[in-house]
Amino acid sequence: MTASFDWRGFDPGGDVVRIFDTTMRDGEQSPGATMTSKEKLEVAKTLSRLGVDVIEAGFPAASPDDLRAVRGVAETVGLEPVVGRPQPGPPIVCGLARATKGDIDKAWEAVRPAARPRIHTFLATSPIHREHKLRMGKAEVLARIREMVAYARSLCADIEFSAEDAGRTELDFLAEAFRAAVDAGATTLNVPDTVGYVFPDEMEERIRTVREAVGTGVVISVHCHDDLGLAVANSLAAVRAGARQVEVAVNGIGERAGNTSLEEIVMALRTRRAKLGLDTRVDATQLTRASHLVSRVTGMIVQPNKAIVGANAFAHEAGIHQDGMLKHAETYEIMRPETVGAAHTQLVLGKHSGRAAFRARLAELAYPLEGDALDKAFARFKELADKKKSITDADLVALVSDDIAMPVERIRLCALQVACGDLGMPTATVRLETGDPEAAQEHVLAKVGTGPVDAVYRAIDDVAARLAGEAAAVDLLEYAIQSVTSGIDALGEVRVRIRPKDPRARLVPEGGEQARVFHGHGTDTDIVVASAKAYLSAVNRVLAARAAMEERAERGVA
Ligand code: KIV
Ligand code: ZN
Repeated sequence: MTASFDWRGFDPGGDVVRIFDTTMRDGEQSPGATMTSKEKLEVAKTLSRLGVDVIEAGFPAASPDDLRAVRGVAETVGLEPVVGRPQPGPPIVCGLARATKGDIDKAWEAVRPAARPRIHTFLATSPIHREHKLRMGKAEVLARIREMVAYARSLCADIEFSAEDAGRTELDFLAEAFRAAVDAGATTLNVPDTVGYVFPDEMEERIRTVREAVGTGVVISVHCHDDLGLAVANSLAAVRAGARQVEVAVNGIGERAGNTSLEEIVMALRTRRAKLGLDTRVDATQLTRASHLVSRVTGMIVQPNKAIVGANAFAHEAGIHQDGMLKHAETYEIMRPETVGAAHTQLVLGKHSGRAAFRARLAELAYPLEGDALDKAFARFKELADKKKSITDADLVALVSDDIAMPVERIRLCALQVACGDLGMPTATVRLETGDPEAAQEHVLAKVGTGPVDAVYRAIDDVAARLAGEAAAVDLLEYAIQSVTSGIDALGEVRVRIRPKDPRARLVPEGGEQARVFHGHGTDTDIVVASAKAYLSAVNRVLAARAAMEERAERGVA
């Protein structure tokens, strides 16, 4: 049976550009950016509050975990608008599917609880993909598009079809492929520049050709990759030519060099609205918060000079610039920092602040915590307030983000002490716990390392090996530390990326070639403790992924 399609706001040629967010699908394809279901749900809430029109929540056929995560988003964020969402109604929740019945069935199973479900199915159309990947002729490609789009449409009323590698597809065949998709029931046609190859004038030509070929009854969409640094420029070119949906990811994360950056597209359209006469429905004041959250849960650091959300995006260093700014902000500023939610950090709370003030400030920062989550965060806030005189918004966000980014803790840190200096033998004594909190097993051990962090990591490695043997051994690929705010009592924030050592334990995703990279994140006023928390959260992710893989193998599921 076909679910009824909500046509409200469906104006394929209007002045609203729909924002289709793929942070949780293409964005998650960045190495090491894997998110847990809990993190995905938090990102989905943030995207809904931001006001995106479509959330591509994942690729349900990739694994049972992916299917569950997409379904979790459909059942929550996809049913009710979250508090603060700038548009009426929840966002469309979308699942990706290759053009096969199996994939489409899984995508439908995952998205169908949403009030506005969408299936996004794709098939490559370029000569190089047809010949070497699909081994299909043009006629077969067209037949598969017709068959699979029609099948998807028999399940769901909102169908997006993508012609993978559209950027390198012959223009006449691209038009033919999209006509076939529309005839079979597609409601959105997506033009992906899968390998980030085209120039803006070429993208404009592609979109115009597709528009002329299919008429005005469908939304034309664009999906660009940034291999040549042209994703935003190409997306804007597509919009000029008539595309009314842009596929984006927060912080521009995604396969290889990433996708079109959400914040850049939103602010380019808004800042230059007088030029294009187009806008999105996004609440731009939520952009900085969304950027921080995605950076934390994916472990992907935002470069300081990144447009809109980088730490230096609104910093003026040169004397001439500072002088100009003091005289008139518009001399050197085309957007105000507060427009994107990047106003200066305020000193807000301290040791004597109560639960109500803490809760209210978190709600203002768009973290409306209640119940257990609020109790836990408040306890951590009190601990921090004992060590740090004034607690800023950035501290509060770091504090609650740690909880959001916490995977199931198979190993927990109870206590830690280090001895270090330049006399050699830096030593860490660590008390860790494993197993259920009610029947936990305690492990106390001391280790020597090249420094205090290395000594702590060796102790954690030992305990991980007790739980999972050689499969738990990992290589530390990256370790980064920065302070959340300034001042000697600032919180230290550590991010790590690790990879399982044993090739058999590398948890390679189905069809993937690269071993998976896992990230971890931790904050504390003590940087060795922050380092331990970050490493533990990454190791716990490896252990969780391993357990899920073993469980699937036991059940005989791929
Ligand atoms: O880049 C691409 O072609 C994609 C499609 C699945 C839309 O991500
Ligand atoms: Zn892509």
